[in-house]
Amino acid sequence: MIVPIEIRQSPTRRYEITIDPLPELRFDRKVAIVTNPTVAPLHLERVLSRISAPQVEVIEVPDGEEYKSMETVLGILDRLFETRFDRSALLIALGGGVIGDMTGFAASLYQRGIGFVQMPTTLLSQVDASVGGKTGVNNKWGKNLIGAFYQPEAVYIDPAFLETLPEREYAAGIAEVIKMAVMFDREFFDFLERSDLKDPEVAKEMIARSVTLKAEVVNQDEKEAGIRAVLNYGHTFGHVIENETGYSRYLHGEAVAIGMVMANALAVELGLLSPEEAGRIERLLERWGLPTRYEIEDAEAFYQHFFLDKKSTRGSIRFILPGGEIGTHTIRGDLDPALVKRVLERFGAAG
Ligand SMILES: NC(=O)c1ccc[n+]([C@@H]2O[C@H](COP(=O)([O-])OP(=O)(O)OC[C@H]3O[C@@H](n4cnc5c(N)ncnc54)[C@H](O)[C@@H]3O)[C@@H](O)[C@H]2O)c1
Repeated sequence: MIVPIEIRQSPTRRYEITIDPLPELRFDRKVAIVTNPTVAPLHLERVLSRISAPQVEVIEVPDGEEYKSMETVLGILDRLFETRFDRSALLIALGGGVIGDMTGFAASLYQRGIGFVQMPTTLLSQVDASVGGKTGVNNKWGKNLIGAFYQPEAVYIDPAFLETLPEREYAAGIAEVIKMAVMFDREFFDFLERSDLKDPEVAKEMIARSVTLKAEVVNQDEKEAGIRAVLNYGHTFGHVIENETGYSRYLHGEAVAIGMVMANALAVELGLLSPEEAGRIERLLERWGLPTRYEIEDAEAFYQHFFLDKKSTRGSIRFILPGGEIGTHTIRGDLDPALVKRVLERFGAAG
């Protein structure tokens, strides 16, 4: 199956997202595959067997969010210089979102920009991170604060990569899928509730539907001036939780799961979402063993943390909430801080 992506604001940026077993790929230029020591032993051999190119280099970088840094990207660039790659070279990101974000960013920088291809190997990166051209790294000020919008030439999503993915990582990816359904597609949410998402055929359909929704959003709004912000549902809260817990207790998707429950509590308080609909979302998250509770120690401090997010603009926080029911959304930048803090307090020990 192929999902075409066409960024409408810049008609030259067209590429395809292929959701199928990895095809034979022929390149008439030098290729460097960027991967890590977890993914390489599991999948590199098969990927290499599918690629023909005049020269294929493998660049391994350490595994982990803590290595998603400028230093690692500079290391990738160094290897490209050492191997005398020129501007026609191509990078292939083989790994999860961390590898994809760094490889894309390195591609945007090398000699002012070379091509790159995404081969996402986690569910989260297949349904979300590999689509849409956000690339970048973390620094001491926060996550993804250095980066570029830089679109790949193609995305190859092979669901077979997921066979080796730990259960917990799979569930974290499901959280992003649920996010997409709650924001945009009620029928898709019903599908997620009633289907066996571990079944490979069902999983493929789930990935395709998720990617199609994300592609549609990115096509309209590559640089997040409007609708793309809706993809941050659960993230405004989730980022604070990740930050408060030192990025170590929760996987990103897990923090987003709690964040969605918090956003829903706010939406219920505002009369936007019924408690029944909020309950449905929570039950689906729990079915995947995703966390839905987090004890906020200090609601005021939690609230102030929102302002560290790069998405809070000029002192106002934009909350992404379910609109009136599952499958709809609303963006609210006008909420009374006292009301928000009251909802946060309910997540405290006394709440
Ligand atoms: N660019 C975007 O639009 C976007 C969107 C969402 C998230 N992200 C970023 O993505 C990152 C999270 O991505 P992630 O959840 O894929 O994490 P990850 O890249 O850290 O991968 C999770 C773990 O799974 C391992 N792994 C990868 N594929 C595997 C496989 N097939 N079998 C076994 N193990 C495998 C990885 O080596 C790693 O240890 C974050 O840095 C986040 O900021 C980016």
